[in-house]
Amino acid sequence: MLHVLDHPLAAHVITHLRDKTTKPATFRTLSYQISLLLAIEATRNLPTEPKAIETPLEPMTGRVLTHQPLVVVPILRAGLGMVQPFVDIFPDVSVGYIGLERDHTTAIARSYYCKLPVVSGRRIVLVDPMLATGGSAVKAIDVVRDAGGADITLVSIVSSPEGVAEVESHYPKLPIFTAALDRGLNAKKYIMPGLGDFGDRLYGT
Ligand code: PRP
Ligand code: URA
Repeated sequence: MLHVLDHPLAAHVITHLRDKTTKPATFRTLSYQISLLLAIEATRNLPTEPKAIETPLEPMTGRVLTHQPLVVVPILRAGLGMVQPFVDIFPDVSVGYIGLERDHTTAIARSYYCKLPVVSGRRIVLVDPMLATGGSAVKAIDVVRDAGGADITLVSIVSSPEGVAEVESHYPKLPIFTAALDRGLNAKKYIMPGLGDFGDRLYGT
């Protein structure tokens, strides 16, 4: 179930992210901004419950987030560039980590690290800026499900139709939020027009 962010600020930020002249310091700021917009959009249906309070003028019943705190799981390393907005806006958020790296010739992701909090019964938001072949995303979803996670949302900044199709072929009902759906992959499995290697641009490597 694909949701493409439709907001003028998102279009503005992503254009600057794509620009090859954007330097790592600005790239990190832009990653924060687009991830904040995505975090808000991807959590639109989080459950809330009533809470009785008093304003300075009268009592009223407002709504607050229910008690099961959110879990955000970045796929290392580039996913780290998307975590901070979740930590900033969600109280009691837990952070897990899944380390995956694509082989440069085969583009197949290899797992090198995994540290997850309790995931069962909680909303898990997997964050990875690039959904290219979808291999990394499917591997990460498998890992979270094996750990007992069921309520999983995938958030990416740029996606390819191939990556979306790959995730949907394994997990047809899983919500995917992205800021851009691009044309497709090139021979080296990079997203076109894309923005290049996100991790390299984020960390200046
Ligand atoms: C990039 C990106 C995704 C993956 C997407 O990571 O951050 O994790 O590629 O590609 P896929 O959909 O074809 O699997 P990379 O493997 O380059 O590692 P990095 O985050 O350490 O740079
Ligand atoms: N990973 C990236 O960082 N960029 C791509 O275009 C594809 C995978």
